[in-house]
Amino acid sequence: MSELEPPSPPPGFRLFALTVKELIGLDLTSYNPRQLYRRLEHQLSRVGCRDLAEYAALIRRDRRRAEELASFITINVSQFFRDPHLWETLADPLRHYVLDELPARGSRPRLRAWSAGCSVGAEAYSLAIFLTELHLPVTFHILATDVDEEALKVAAAAVYQERELAGLSDKRRREFFVPQGEAGWQVRGDLRKTVTFRRHDLLRDQYPLGMDLILCRNVVIYFTPEAKQRVQEALARSLRPGGLLFVGATESLIEPGSYGLEPIAPFLYRRSRP
Ligand SMILES: C[S@@+](CC[C@H](N)C(=O)[O-])C[C@H]1O[C@@H](n2cnc3c(N)ncnc32)[C@H](O)[C@@H]1O
Repeated sequence: MSELEPPSPPPGFRLFALTVKELIGLDLTSYNPRQLYRRLEHQLSRVGCRDLAEYAALIRRDRRRAEELASFITINVSQFFRDPHLWETLADPLRHYVLDELPARGSRPRLRAWSAGCSVGAEAYSLAIFLTELHLPVTFHILATDVDEEALKVAAAAVYQERELAGLSDKRRREFFVPQGEAGWQVRGDLRKTVTFRRHDLLRDQYPLGMDLILCRNVVIYFTPEAKQRVQEALARSLRPGGLLFVGATESLIEPGSYGLEPIAPFLYRRSRP
């Protein structure tokens, strides 16, 4: 079989996907089949089921098993300031946007940002730190969403272990985190207040509008090309004209111009003005 041909689904997949959709609302058919089938196979042996029919019965009986499956499929790997060099390329375009576009919105303009697919919150809090350090003449609010409720619970608690903070300089750790002994380090209270976490499924929920900045990084890589395109088009519509979309270091948008985005730096796009 060629790498380009979609692999055949494992026996019982259609019914299994319907069960998952019904129980937790996750649309498995929009995920990259090659990765998905491999992960499902791995998961079957982890939970000790012979096939997907048996697994469907298990998640029907036990809701926790269904949520555990969601976490497994959606892959929560994340870190603070992932790809630090790319964060640096965000500073200037953002500064220009704030200085040139936001004053038109009154005397105390507020920047609205969205971390879409925020996982355990590292991306959203990195953004809060980044915006604080930029000292822009605005207040800001970050909406941070994910489909995985377990990841969102970790995000809201905002307590991270030493190894999860590996990407942070000592200066940032001292300034923006409070030590919690054995438990790890918690994001400072005032910074936590700038972020609101909420469950949102990029494949089926309505998108918020009027965003100035969207981070959607390392999320659509798990989707089929069609789902990826749908999500990226919808993200573009969520941005105000001039607003910025920051994507992951392995992602590129196909024909971004056709849905109103222009590339302005590697992995950074701007919503065109009408
Ligand atoms: C690899 S993590 C990326 C986290 C962060 N954006 C980063 O780059 O470090 C992918 C996240 O996408 C989320 N995700 C997967 N499918 C999703 C969907 N349909 N809607 C919203 N989030 C989704 C997963 O739950 C997971 O937390």
